[in-house]
Amino acid sequence: MLRRRSMRAHLTDTGAALAYVVGREREWLTDGVGRVAVHVGLLHAHRATGASHPLVRALSVDGTPPGTVIDATLGLCQDALHVAEVTGARMWGTEVSAPLFCLAESGLPRLAAEGVAAAARITPLCGDARQLLPTLPQADAVMLSPMFGTPAAAAPGFELLREVAVHAPLDHTWLAACLAAAPRVVMKVERRAPVPAFVTPHLTEVLHGKSVDYWLLERAGGAGTT
Ligand SMILES: C[S@@+](CC[C@H](N)C(=O)[O-])C[C@H]1O[C@@H](n2cnc3c(N)ncnc32)[C@H](O)[C@@H]1O
Repeated sequence: MLRRRSMRAHLTDTGAALAYVVGREREWLTDGVGRVAVHVGLLHAHRATGASHPLVRALSVDGTPPGTVIDATLGLCQDALHVAEVTGARMWGTEVSAPLFCLAESGLPRLAAEGVAAAARITPLCGDARQLLPTLPQADAVMLSPMFGTPAAAAPGFELLREVAVHAPLDHTWLAACLAAAPRVVMKVERRAPVPAFVTPHLTEVLHGKSVDYWLLERAGGAGTT
């Protein structure tokens, strides 16, 4: 059906806070003011930074990039696109929020068709990572970035993402599922986040990004900081 009134008016009429819009060429989520969709984001900048980015260093073993990676918190695919682009890894991404999964499921093939080769290497999967991880082939690494307790970024549409994302923090069952799926787990956390007791035995390195930290967790742990 053709839409003749503004999205804001439709939302007000229906009492809905958000709309998932299926356009002719792309899909997005909107509150009538902002919108979120899967897009290339900082991909060009990440390509320039290459292997020196702390996320890529944490995923690599002695400078060798991973061949297969699972992103256990796919979200808007920004981290997955970054890693797929810089490492060339084959990737799977799990996302438990249905609208966010739909954005990934429609957005990644669109980007691939537009020539973003990294997007074609990412397979999105809908569901809770704890249930999906055991069904996937053993990977070189798992990465994850649960929602921060304190909103860290003010990127356009970030508030919309927070509304539809699932906010569960990492717990011991989730970490166990990640460590069973790959020997190396890299978790993006707030700068100087406290380390939960169940994480400590696995934490082998803390790598500092510009505004976040990356914890490198391994099946058999140790402790260190770079
Ligand atoms: C901070 S966002 C991830 C952002 C993503 N790394 C990106 O680059 O766009 C965290 C995401 O994890 C998802 N999530 C939370 N719990 C999950 C679970 N148990 N399994 C899969 N996804 C989960 C949330 O819905 C949210 O989309």
